[in-house]
Amino acid sequence: MHSFHYRNAALHCEEVDLSALAEDHGTPLYVYSAATIRDHYRRLSSALSGLDHHIAYAVKANSNLSILKMLADEGAGFDIVSGGELFRVLSAGGDAAGCTFAGVGKTRDEIKYALEEGIYCFNAESEAELCFIDKVAGELGKVAPVALRVNPNVDAKTHKYISTGKSENKFGVDFDNIAGIYAHAAREMKNISLRGLQMHIGSQLTSVQPFVEAVEKVAPLAAQLKTDHQIEFFSIGGGIGIVYEDSLASGSRDWWEEQSGEDKPLTLEEYAQAIIPTLEPLGLKILLEPGRMIAGNAGVLLSRVLYRKQGAAKVFAIVDAGMGDLIRPALYQGHHDIIPVTESGRKTETIDVVGPICESGDFFAQNRELPGLEEGELIALLSAGAYGFVMASNYNSRPFPAEILVDGSEARLIRKRQGFDDLISGEIL
Ligand code: LLP
Repeated sequence: MHSFHYRNAALHCEEVDLSALAEDHGTPLYVYSAATIRDHYRRLSSALSGLDHHIAYAVKANSNLSILKMLADEGAGFDIVSGGELFRVLSAGGDAAGCTFAGVGKTRDEIKYALEEGIYCFNAESEAELCFIDKVAGELGKVAPVALRVNPNVDAKTHKYISTGKSENKFGVDFDNIAGIYAHAAREMKNISLRGLQMHIGSQLTSVQPFVEAVEKVAPLAAQLKTDHQIEFFSIGGGIGIVYEDSLASGSRDWWEEQSGEDKPLTLEEYAQAIIPTLEPLGLKILLEPGRMIAGNAGVLLSRVLYRKQGAAKVFAIVDAGMGDLIRPALYQGHHDIIPVTESGRKTETIDVVGPICESGDFFAQNRELPGLEEGELIALLSAGAYGFVMASNYNSRPFPAEILVDGSEARLIRKRQGFDDLISGEIL
């Protein structure tokens, strides 16, 4: 489900009128729905209820403290990829013992920090990294829990920048080498305990087939590692895709129930039913690392149309949000639906929606059929809750937008808009 809908022609998030929020807090403005985030978490957990599982939310998707706190309260663990993300989890009241630490390039300081805080497991991505974790743990007189990330060489059939499970990607360890490295680690690395096996084949997967292929390929390896090294978990990563196009078509609705079909994201039930038969007999704890699935459709970016511009070849709506606020269209040709915050029965036109940044790549839509947009009006870029704010930059010295969390009829500022002082703080003249 999601909680964005028109009420008397005014776009609302749950019970809150979005144009009122924009008046109070200015634009660009990120707005998230707490009910949607909680619903997505619970829905995934209940689809997997037949399985001994643990959901480690991928912090990178949306790392605002209030969102992490809400998920910690739901019982989620966290998949982190940096010392900074661990700091965020702890600052939000999360528990290091529920965190997995992924990423190909962990530094000494990050390993030390995570060991001192007592994280659940490092997901190591190379033999070199495993050796280094062993060394750092030894220096601290600690034993580091580790899993290796296996690269199953499966095509995730997603955008090439977010595909991670093919052998040409930098991620994970070649499938054929895994067993040898575990044996080597068990023999020689005294400061390591082999706790699990991990994989993640990519993000925004809209079909269940690559998940099934990867799980079926790697499950026998997990079983063997359980026998040989008594590992306790198998993490199957994140990657569940969401609906980006026509996402508001009929107002609030059930994403993973009504959207299944040929080219639509898989349903959670379909996902669960396809993988549980292979995973359950392993008798291992199954970890999942969803990010986008939890937060993606739970957020919008509100922006105001500054100008209409009639170019020689096109009409442009120049808006006050830019690629610095939401980079997905520029980086991945990502589609985000754009809708007016005040619905009206106006005629559509073909238009480019662009930001104010000095780059031709700074656009949100090109040649898109949209209701005629007027100067001064508000638009909402949908499905911006994941990989939105977290990827923001200050390029062109534009301050970060504010973030709001709506819960029922309550709207809470969860990050202040940056000011000019924030832009130069830390610089030395
Ligand atoms: N686990 C690992 C090891 C990952 O690398 C990722 C995402 C996840 C879990 C979470 O994947 P999700 O469930 O969100 O698909 N910025 C891109 C997406 C990058 C994903 C990176 N890794 C985008 O905006 O599409």
